[in-house]
Amino acid sequence: MIPGWYRDAIIYQVDPRTFLDLSGDGSGDLAGVVDRLHHLRGLGVTCLWLLPFYPSPFRDGGYDITDHLGVDPSLGTISDMVQLIQTADELGIRVVVELVVQHTSDRHPWFQQARADRDSPYRYYYVWADEPEPSEIEPVFPGTEDSVWARDALAGQYYRHAFYSHEPDLNLANPAVLREVEKIVAFWLQMGVSGFRLDGAPYIPERTKRLDATDGGLWWFDELNDFVTVRSPGAVLLGEVDVPVQQYADYFADGHRVTMLLNFWSNNHLFLALARQDATSLAKALRQQPPPPARGQYANWLRNNDELDLERLTDDEREEVLAAFAPREEHRIYGRGIRRRLAPMLDGDRDRIAMAHALLLSLPGVPVLHYGEEIGMGDDLGQPEREAVRTVMQWSAEHNAGFSPVPPDRLRMPLIADGPFGYREVNVYRQVLDQDALLYRIGNLSRTRGGLPQIGSGETAVLDSGCSAVLGVRHGSGGETVVCLVNVSDAEVEATQPDGEWVDVIADRPYPPPEPGAPIPLRRYGYRWLREKRHLVD
Ligand code: BGC
Repeated sequence: MIPGWYRDAIIYQVDPRTFLDLSGDGSGDLAGVVDRLHHLRGLGVTCLWLLPFYPSPFRDGGYDITDHLGVDPSLGTISDMVQLIQTADELGIRVVVELVVQHTSDRHPWFQQARADRDSPYRYYYVWADEPEPSEIEPVFPGTEDSVWARDALAGQYYRHAFYSHEPDLNLANPAVLREVEKIVAFWLQMGVSGFRLDGAPYIPERTKRLDATDGGLWWFDELNDFVTVRSPGAVLLGEVDVPVQQYADYFADGHRVTMLLNFWSNNHLFLALARQDATSLAKALRQQPPPPARGQYANWLRNNDELDLERLTDDEREEVLAAFAPREEHRIYGRGIRRRLAPMLDGDRDRIAMAHALLLSLPGVPVLHYGEEIGMGDDLGQPEREAVRTVMQWSAEHNAGFSPVPPDRLRMPLIADGPFGYREVNVYRQVLDQDALLYRIGNLSRTRGGLPQIGSGETAVLDSGCSAVLGVRHGSGGETVVCLVNVSDAEVEATQPDGEWVDVIADRPYPPPEPGAPIPLRRYGYRWLREKRHLVD
C-alpha cells in the first residue's frame, strides 16, 4: 500500500443547491456550504465531494453544464469557490469537484455554434449523423429517453446523447475536445481542488477508442491521470465506473487510470445483504472483487444523489431488493433502481440505519456519505425522477428547516415538511442533543474510523464469521489489527471470535468484554469493532 490521503478518507457529498441558502434567494449556495463546513468537520469528514455548481439550466441536477470554468450565478461567484476551498483547507477538508466531459448542456456555446454552422470548429466537438446510426450504447435513462439520437432542425442532422436529449455527447475522439478537457482540469487544480469525480467514466473509452484503439480507449485515463498528478501530485480521479466487476482492474490499472473507483458491485451486494438479512452474498462479493492497486482505493456508499442503481445484481437478486425496499411502483425508476433515501427504505428503524452505516464503514475502501444520511432524512416521491432524494438539508425545526429565510412558496428546492421524515422530526439541531440519535451514532462511527488508520490504509480480509447474518472484516497495518463485525439481521446472534485477544473499540451498545475464545454476541442489527490487544511489555 502506498500511503495517500485518499486511502482512509471520509467523503461527504454536498449538493450546493440544497445545503444552506445564505443569500436568501430560496436556493442553497456556495456561501452556505462554507458556512456549514464545520458540520462536516464535526462528523470526521476529510473530503467534500461538491456536486455540480457550474453554470447550468439545471435540467439534470447541474450535470448539464454550459460553462465548465464558472459558477452558476444562483450559487455564487468564482470567489465563493476560492473561499470554499480555502476554508475547507483550513479545516483539513479536501475538495473534489465534478468533471463532466461526456456531454454538455445543449445550451453550451460550443453546441450553439456547432448546430448553427457546419464549418464551425465546434461542429465536431459533438457526434453527428445524417440518420440515427446503430449504437454500442443504450439510453441511460430508459422510459425518459427512447433513443440516443435526436434531430436538431437548425443543424439539419442528428446528434448523439447517451444521457438526456438536452445533453449532446462531446466527441472525445476529437483532439481539440481533449485539449479543452485539459484546460478545465488545469483551471480547477490551480484553484486548489484535490481531484475530480469522473462522471460517466465507462462512456468515455467508447469515444476515445475512435481516436486510438489502444486498450479499447482506456489509454485516455492514463493521460488524464498523468496530466493531473504532474500538476498536483496528491490529486485524485474518483471514477464513476459502473461496469461489471471483472472490468474494475482495467479501470484501476495500477492506479494510473482512476485513483478511486466508485464500487457499484459492493453497493448492490450490500443492499442484497440488507434485503436478505444475511451477509453471505456480500462476503462473497467482497472476496470476488479485485484488490485495489497500491495506488488505488475503492469508494463505497449507501445512497447518493442518484437512484440506487441495481444493475450489478442478477435479475432475481434485483427483484429481491426491489421487493424489500421498493414495494410501490413510485419507488422504482428506469427499470433498474430505487429513488428513495435509506431511512424510509429501512422504515426509519434507527438501529437498522445505524447498522447499515457500521456496515458501510467496515468495508474495504473509503465511505461516501450523501448529505442528510447522517440524520436519516427522507425523500419526496412527488418530485420527478431522482429529484426525490434531493430535498433541502434539515438543520432545525425552525422556518424552512433552517435552510432558507424565504417564504415557503419561494423555495426553489423541495422541503420535506410533514410526516415522520419532516424537518420538525428529523433535523441536525434536535439530534445533536440526543445520544441515541443517528447523528450521534453515525458521527461516532465515522470519527472512530478516522482514528483507526488500519481501516482504509491496511490490508483487509473478509473473515468467516461463523454466522451467516454477520459480516466480518479484518483490517490490519503496522502490527495493529481491527475486526469489524456487523449483524445485518433482526435476530440476536453470535459470531466466532478470531484468534487472539480482543477489546471493543465501538459497538451499537455496550457489551461485556469478550471472553477469551468465546463466541462474540451481537444484538439485533448490532455491530462491534474490536481491536487486538497489544502487549507492549511482556
Ligand atoms: C450523475 C447523474 C447525471 C448523469 C449525467 C451521473 O453520473 O451522477 O446525476 O444525471 O451523470 O451527467
